[in-house]
Amino acid sequence: MKLVLSLIALAVGAFGQVTYTRDISRVFQAKCQQCHREGDIAPFALDSYEAAMTWGEDIQRAIEERRMPPWKPVDGFGEFQHNFGLSAEERDLILNWYRGGAEEGDPRDLPEAVAPGGEFQLGDPDVVLTMPQTYSLTRRGDTYRCFVIPTDFGSDRFIDAFQVVPGNRQVVHHVILYLDTSGKARQMDGQDGNPGYDCFGGPGDGIPLTLSSMAGGWVPGMRANRFPEGIGTLLPKDVDIIMQVHYYPCGRTEQEDQTKVGLYFAQGEVNKRLVYLPILNTRFQIPPGAESHEVTATFPIPPLFDATAYLVAPHMHLLGRQFKLEKIRPNGRTEPLIYIDNWDFNWQGFYQYQQPIRLNGFDRVRATCTFDNSENNPRNPSNPLKTVRWGEGTEDEMCIGFLGITFDRENIVPFNQPL
Ligand code: HEC
Repeated sequence: MKLVLSLIALAVGAFGQVTYTRDISRVFQAKCQQCHREGDIAPFALDSYEAAMTWGEDIQRAIEERRMPPWKPVDGFGEFQHNFGLSAEERDLILNWYRGGAEEGDPRDLPEAVAPGGEFQLGDPDVVLTMPQTYSLTRRGDTYRCFVIPTDFGSDRFIDAFQVVPGNRQVVHHVILYLDTSGKARQMDGQDGNPGYDCFGGPGDGIPLTLSSMAGGWVPGMRANRFPEGIGTLLPKDVDIIMQVHYYPCGRTEQEDQTKVGLYFAQGEVNKRLVYLPILNTRFQIPPGAESHEVTATFPIPPLFDATAYLVAPHMHLLGRQFKLEKIRPNGRTEPLIYIDNWDFNWQGFYQYQQPIRLNGFDRVRATCTFDNSENNPRNPSNPLKTVRWGEGTEDEMCIGFLGITFDRENIVPFNQPL
């Protein structure tokens, strides 16, 4: 990104006038085309001057109101990989270009089109697990559905990367992978006559959330990454993978989907498990009408349980407005781990730190969730307003910061992982 920016600066410096072909196209390529391309989740492709003009007013509004691109973490509160947020310079560049008459420029200045790339960013996975049946979308609005995918690896296995590949990119909005060894998900599967079962804020009623019940997630724009050497997510023998999919048909009904996930087995010996530490508060009440109700959760890192955090995934439902996660050192100093000032349930990211975060014994991690349970919140699902508590339903709330961590002292005796 630095390169693109300095190229822009150079170009502007050298030739004055900002043009689509030389400048704007490059920003759209880097920050919009992850989703705004043919057949992907966004409603139009943003890959030509014509598209930039047709959608000009919407683009300016979406950028001014900071709705697009949907990169949620606020700059300066944790540094993340694959950041597709617009910098202040890029925002100004685009807006000033539109205001200044939106010159097209010389077609010879256009960057090369982004190659479509293979299906899997890390090459062929070791195993590809697919939803057992296609799912037909019958409803118009958002649909949250859990699909149960059994595994059969013969033994416990570690993965050090995964990639979700939406079956139908136009409707798959996000995916969260949970693990179930209780057999409960299987029991719920298909009970209503369709593949899977409805689930909104978690893996489904009665399936316990433990340190190792989450295996990752995916939203458009996210890139697959391998964990550092020696780290893996444990898939216990015969575990069921629960694939929670949020469908966003956007008016397109009668769509079908069969999403899959590619798994990459860890190659070397794994001696640390990546687990998802939930910093959560389940005992809160958000009074009806409260516009800015804060709920906090604090987790003290126990002595001898020093940990390293690689990624963070905030989680609230529809009343959530802000989310903050901080590390508080024993001397009281705080360090931001992530801050989202404009929460949107539909853009729940798994954000990977640029540099792993150290969590030492006696440090505390504090989550602060701010909820708007007033009528002014257009997303408020309750009418009449009511007291809202913890729960998995659309009208319930959650306040969780998942930290993807390893424990520094863990050194599991490596078991054989023949390929
Ligand atoms: C990670 C995926 C993603 C990226 C990156 C992205 N968009 Fe979008 N965009 C969407 C989706 C999905 C929609 C449909 C509406 C929604 O979900 O909010 C959308 C809708 C829009 C709309 C029309 C609706 C509205 O909100 O006004 C505009 C304009 C837009 N995007 C502009 C942009 C621009 C400009 C960029 C880059 C600077 C960008 N988007 C980057 C996914 C993305």
